[in-house]
Amino acid sequence: MKRNVIIDCDPGIDDALAIMLALESPELEVAGITIVAGNCPCEMGYQNVRKILHFMNRMDIPVFRGAEKPLRREYVNALDTHGSDGLGESFLPDVNGFPEETETAVEFLARRLSEGDCSVIALGPMTNLAELIRVAPDAFANALDIISMGGNFKSHGNCSPVAEYNYWEDPDAAGIVFAQMAKIGKTIRMVGLDVTRKIVLTPDLLNYMERLDPKTGNFVRRITKFYFDFHWEWEHIIGCVINDPLAVAIFLNPEMAEGIAAFTEVVTDGIAIGQTVVDEKEFYRKPANAFIYTQVDVPAFWTMFFTRLLHKNAEELPLLKTFTGV
Ligand code: RIB
Ligand code: CA
Repeated sequence: MKRNVIIDCDPGIDDALAIMLALESPELEVAGITIVAGNCPCEMGYQNVRKILHFMNRMDIPVFRGAEKPLRREYVNALDTHGSDGLGESFLPDVNGFPEETETAVEFLARRLSEGDCSVIALGPMTNLAELIRVAPDAFANALDIISMGGNFKSHGNCSPVAEYNYWEDPDAAGIVFAQMAKIGKTIRMVGLDVTRKIVLTPDLLNYMERLDPKTGNFVRRITKFYFDFHWEWEHIIGCVINDPLAVAIFLNPEMAEGIAAFTEVVTDGIAIGQTVVDEKEFYRKPANAFIYTQVDVPAFWTMFFTRLLHKNAEELPLLKTFTGV
């Protein structure tokens, strides 16, 4: 029985890799992809998803345009990280000649989640989800599972000492989503920087991908080269942290990671704006509204990523152990 998912994203280099992993996972039925302004403006994200779907020969997947700016804050993109085209300045050609959806992201989210048996994998700022809560709270509550790449617990931020981009860019939306989870007595699964920082695509892994599957490996190289340069310049690491694919991987295999259930809030103003405040010691004595991932089995992630994107069995990947530090 396939698991139905909607991917809400801001593609974005790592969003693109996450979409590729989801499309190569037979357990998933991607019911649709909704776009939110984040790494790049919404329209650029829409065009970028179609470039990814075209490469994957999956133009059957419907794509829906969503929020063009955060609920309240000024919109701040991350094109400095993802390149002027949002896909690592790969400058892939626009994809034309295919039908375009007229429903908005929120209309689609409301309609499809109301039908039941569908989860959400959120890989960008949660503006669309906050809007969904405003207009169709029952549809939101009907989501089977909501997993979000975003936030950070004990790891430092990437937009301030304490805030991660997705929740920093639209802290009001993130705050609304976490508060709604508390209100309906559910938990959002937060795949934050504490675990995603451990997922580093290195030159060795990229070379290995290309050797095993030149077409896919070269495509990944094209869209990540800019990201490699950014990571060397700003974080002095050789490689690039690919955050979003880990949220897909943990959705597919929760055994891959560990964490804690805790009542969590998002700071919406002041110097700590966008910070996730995780009540680890139950100071407030409130029921958990989030599951915060703190540990991940890194080799298990890379085995999943390589076997699915490159259509290989684990036994065909003897060098993976060398490259993932096992
Ligand atoms: O902070 C990393 C997150 O922000 C990732 O989802 C990246 O794509 C950006 O959206
Ligand atoms: Ca993203």
